[in-house]
Amino acid sequence: MFKSDSPVGIDDLSVYVPELFVSTTGEFAVKRGIEPAKLARGIGIERMAIPDAHEDAATMAAMSALELMRRSDLRPEQVGKIYVGTESAVDEAKAIGTYVIGMLEKVYGPGSFQECSTVEFKSACIGTTYALENMSYWLAQEEQDQVGLVVASDVARYDLCSSGEYTQGAGSVSLLVRHRPRLLAFEGIFGAFTRDENDFFRPIGERTAVVNGKHSNDCYLMAVDGAFASFERKARRGGLIDPGLGECPTDYVQHILFHLPYPRMAEYAAASLFRQEWRGLSRWRELEGEIGPEPRVEDYADGGDYARADFEFRKKFTRSELFMQAFRSKVEGSTSISRQVGNIYTGSIYLGLASLLESGKLSPGERACFGSYGSGCSALVFSALVQPGLGSVPSTGILERLAARREISLAEYEQLHEGRRKESIIPPREEFALLRVDEQGYRHYDFVR
Ligand code: HMG
Repeated sequence: MFKSDSPVGIDDLSVYVPELFVSTTGEFAVKRGIEPAKLARGIGIERMAIPDAHEDAATMAAMSALELMRRSDLRPEQVGKIYVGTESAVDEAKAIGTYVIGMLEKVYGPGSFQECSTVEFKSACIGTTYALENMSYWLAQEEQDQVGLVVASDVARYDLCSSGEYTQGAGSVSLLVRHRPRLLAFEGIFGAFTRDENDFFRPIGERTAVVNGKHSNDCYLMAVDGAFASFERKARRGGLIDPGLGECPTDYVQHILFHLPYPRMAEYAAASLFRQEWRGLSRWRELEGEIGPEPRVEDYADGGDYARADFEFRKKFTRSELFMQAFRSKVEGSTSISRQVGNIYTGSIYLGLASLLESGKLSPGERACFGSYGSGCSALVFSALVQPGLGSVPSTGILERLAARREISLAEYEQLHEGRRKESIIPPREEFALLRVDEQGYRHYDFVR
């Protein structure tokens, strides 16, 4: 655990989302032959952010990083490291952070970030969380005026007309990590779970992911539950959380943020976690009295019969008063922005943090637990305490910017998706833009005024 006299954590954050969006419940639902209610409620996504022709993971990362630099009044020489979590790499070798630094230097001057190191963290949707963990270790033993930026940036893209298509999105979140943070101080415990899986991957050269949808949901739940168990073992050993009789560790957590590939996943994840947490406690016996006993795998000769019984039990569990109360108070508040943006892969869980911040749901002294997941697969769980400086963190302005976006037609979306549209729908202004890719494959970016 970190020394408490100088905690390290998240001081501030900024969010960048492209100005274009597709409404899932309009033309998209009609043309794809899907009931709008399935997308709005069954999946939980109302709008998907779509990058314009001049945008990619690098421009979005530079946009959120620049905004964070400006709103926190940072000087380039204070920034010791910029770690970028992404699975939408723009190059197989060159770190995306070098392009980001190149863009930032268009604003701050050539060489201004020369002493800042940068690494790209790739681990599907969990890359940014591993970057954050590593940044916290570095800062814990670094001079106190140094800061680090952890930047998440991704374009979530699946094949047109596939069942993954309505879980797309794009955007970037930048986190300012420093000593004595205003927002969240890490408690220094990280619980991990890793296993080789084929739930979701993108072979080299492919523009869209290969996804085994249902299997990916199962891998997510298995890994996040496993990482929570690992976190809790360490938290008990370290004396961080010491539940009394009839209690469980999440009783000591006010906010649980999950990776959000789509908002409904937070409900599945919460149900799986609370079942794991509450089993064996007196509240579980009362709950089984209300909804019937939880199916036990050893009571079923056929795996399919067990899966069906378990699915039915989960449905009843998620409708129980006990679950709904815990879900509403600890989890649901983190999903609001994702409904308007879609999956931004490695930044999705931090969009959850922005949701809590913007809706005023955080209070000093509360504990937040992050359950991060990356396909392939790996999960990491860590906790942080909301700091007294919370009130001095200004609004990110993201809600106003989301409301001012422009809806595009299905035809425009499909052109952008397939890379067939070269002209921007909204020409860039006061933003970073990809100008061209030269004959060698080097990408030329600039800040367009
Ligand atoms: P699907 O075929 O749309 O799922 O695939 P579904 O038919 O089971 O429907 C989903 C829910 O909608 C169900 O709810 C339906 O009942 C409900 P449930 O039964 O579970 O409670 N529904 C309706 N609700 C209201 N009104 C209606 C209606 N009709 C149906 N009319 C899936 C969904 C997510 C699998 C698919 O979209 C997909 O493959 N997406 C991409 C993969 C993904 O997001 N996986 C999530 C876990 S893996 C992960 O998070 C990592 C990832 O972010 C990548 C990375 O790590 O880099 C993806």
